[in-house]
Amino acid sequence: MRIDIVSLVPEILHSPFSNSIIKRAINKGLIDIYVHDLRKYGLGKRKKVDDYPYGGGSGMVIRIEPVYQCFSKLLSERNYDEKIFMTPDGKLFSQKYARTLTGKKNIIILCGRYKGIDQRIRDYLISREISIGNYILSGGELAAAVVIESVVRLLPGVIQNKDSILTDSFQKESLIAPPIYTRPVVYKGWSVPEILLSGHHKKIKDWFYQKSMQIKRKLDS
Ligand code: ADE
Repeated sequence: MRIDIVSLVPEILHSPFSNSIIKRAINKGLIDIYVHDLRKYGLGKRKKVDDYPYGGGSGMVIRIEPVYQCFSKLLSERNYDEKIFMTPDGKLFSQKYARTLTGKKNIIILCGRYKGIDQRIRDYLISREISIGNYILSGGELAAAVVIESVVRLLPGVIQNKDSILTDSFQKESLIAPPIYTRPVVYKGWSVPEILLSGHHKKIKDWFYQKSMQIKRKLDS
C-alpha cells in the first residue's frame, strides 16, 4: 500500500511516521508513505498557495493551482484508488472505513489549512472527504495521521499477536476493550481481579465479555 500525503506543514507528520508500529510497517516494506510539501507547487517566486475568498470574509483559502499541479504529478506516475480530503465536514471516520482502506493500493490524502480550500478542488479532484470527529483542528495533518495509524495497524503482518484474547470478535465488533492488568498482582493494596489469575480460560473469556458489555451499557446510557 502506498499513501501520498499533500500538506502545507509536512513537518507535523514526521514524528507520527518515524515511531513504533508505522515505522516498523515502513521498514518491513508493508507500506510506503510519502509526504509532499504543497508549497513546492506554489505560484510565482514567493510560492503563493493561498488567496482571499471571493465574496469576502476573513481568512485565506488554498488556491486550486498548487493542488492541481501536485495531484497531476502524482496521477501521471500511478493510478490512485482514492483521493481523500481531510475536513471536519467530511464523513465521520470509522473502524469499518479503516478496514475498507486496507484494500486500496494507492491513496492520496490532502490536508487543508487556513479557512479552507477552493471548492473546485473538492468538486473535481477529491473522491472522498473524511472527518475524524466533530471538532475543528488547525489543519488536516493530525487527522491524516489518525487515519493512517488506524489503517496501517490492520495491514497483514503489521501486528503479530493476532490471536490475542483482546481481539476476539466481540471486541472487534463493538470496539470496546475490557479492562486489562499486568504485574504486580497487588500495588498499594489495589488488586488484580482474582478471576484473571485463575488460569480458567473459559471463565476469563466470559469475564472479559461481561466487562465489555458493562462498559458498552454505560456508554450507551
Ligand atoms: N481538519 C480540521 N479538522 C478536522 C477534523 N475534525 N477531521 C478531519 N480533518 C480536519
